[in-house]
Amino acid sequence: STADIGLIGLAVMGSNLALNIAEKGYTIAVHNRSSGRIDEFVAEAREQGLDGKTIAKYDLADFVQSVKRPRSIIIMVKAGKPVDDMIEQLLPLLEPGDAIIECGNSLFTDTQRRFDYLTPKGIGYLGVGVSGGEEGARHGPSIMVGGSKEQWHNAEAVLTAISAKFNGEPCCAYLGEGGAGHFVKTIHNGIEYGDMQMIAEVYGVMRDGLGMNPKACAEVFKEWNKGPLNSYLIEITGHVLEAVDEETGRPLVELILDKAGQKGTGVWSAIAAQQMGVPATAIEGAVAARSISARKDERVAAEAAYGKRADKKADVTLADLEKALLAGKIVSYAQGFAVIAKASEENGWGLPLSIIAKIWRAGCIIRSRFLDQMSAAYAKGEATNLLMVPDFIALMKDSHPSLRKVVAAAATAEFPMICLSAALSYFDSYRQAQGTANLIQGQRDFFGAHGFEIVGRGTDLHGKWPSTLGN
Ligand code: 6PG
Repeated sequence: STADIGLIGLAVMGSNLALNIAEKGYTIAVHNRSSGRIDEFVAEAREQGLDGKTIAKYDLADFVQSVKRPRSIIIMVKAGKPVDDMIEQLLPLLEPGDAIIECGNSLFTDTQRRFDYLTPKGIGYLGVGVSGGEEGARHGPSIMVGGSKEQWHNAEAVLTAISAKFNGEPCCAYLGEGGAGHFVKTIHNGIEYGDMQMIAEVYGVMRDGLGMNPKACAEVFKEWNKGPLNSYLIEITGHVLEAVDEETGRPLVELILDKAGQKGTGVWSAIAAQQMGVPATAIEGAVAARSISARKDERVAAEAAYGKRADKKADVTLADLEKALLAGKIVSYAQGFAVIAKASEENGWGLPLSIIAKIWRAGCIIRSRFLDQMSAAYAKGEATNLLMVPDFIALMKDSHPSLRKVVAAAATAEFPMICLSAALSYFDSYRQAQGTANLIQGQRDFFGAHGFEIVGRGTDLHGKWPSTLGN
């Protein structure tokens, strides 16, 4: 056996990862269920001068044999049953000490189950989140590793070498046992949903409230990309907005149907947050916004029923919008990281928040200047909620008045703002020492004798409520 590592699943992400590994000087064996795709990969590798470092194997047993022991076998197949099927096919071919490294967008509870299944058999299982899309996979993704720590060390050099670098520091880290890597990747995607939705809401104000055309919007995003919002998503937003449709000469964005797709990670993030009792309203809002967007027919009917929104201008400046986006982002990341902190505690993962922020600084979809600030702030002391990290308290104090102004303007001018308004309400609830749940407790006790607390008097107290009601 001559290969340093193996990879199964040569769709775009898999083949790009394989080429990235070969380019870094490692010999990689590859296999794919359909042999046609293997042939195409061989041609691609040759074109890129990487054929010397790739070994194509058409037979699975041959493929496994060609990898040096203890083996590290990356699988990059569709999430769900195909992963389980692949594990079963590999199992009789592997030997104790070998590891399967699954790099898809898997549900972290599936990863945990697979880890628990393979560990007693002596086979390592690593569930690895890989972010950065096709380009990232080829030239440097952000890599979030979870699972068998011992086998991680066998693959550490390769995965570190292929990862993105931020100021020379690799965006790849071992984060914790079992499903930890895929959990962190899921929350990354939840945060990605929030970022994208908040950007879309601000675009909505520019388009409908300030009467800006896509080109003008693009210019603003390009400008913002030079400031505190500097990030991959702001940068690509500029490019998306300035693209022109070749057939009609019109801005492409105006021709794209306003129905967003989603493959599950946003929903999983929201469910995980809810299950653990961590409020993550920005992620939930972003998921809900995509679901509403998908119901185009209902929206068309509802607009007919209620009439078009009044053509009111939004009373905000571009500077307000920029700061509102920053404030929304702080809240959204505060929520996402609070979800991670809670999951870490519940699962005993020991997830390092500052390292997670660090490995998201480059390579991944949410990469940004903001994350550099965040990792630095967390490194000084890990408050679990970013809103309580000193540097961010200052940033939030400076930016929440703009968020307030933008959300208010949107409400008055009849723009939807599911995500930014959720972020603002979360912030206002979070910083409010005296809330309104006293009333909820009274209501719960009224109809269900659930009890309430009165400080200084006791915890399971009850009211003397009337037994009959007017109606
Ligand atoms: C990434 C992306 C990637 C993928 C998402 C998109 O980090 O590289 O998040 O994983 O593009 O799965 O998810 P939706 O299809 O749900 O938007």
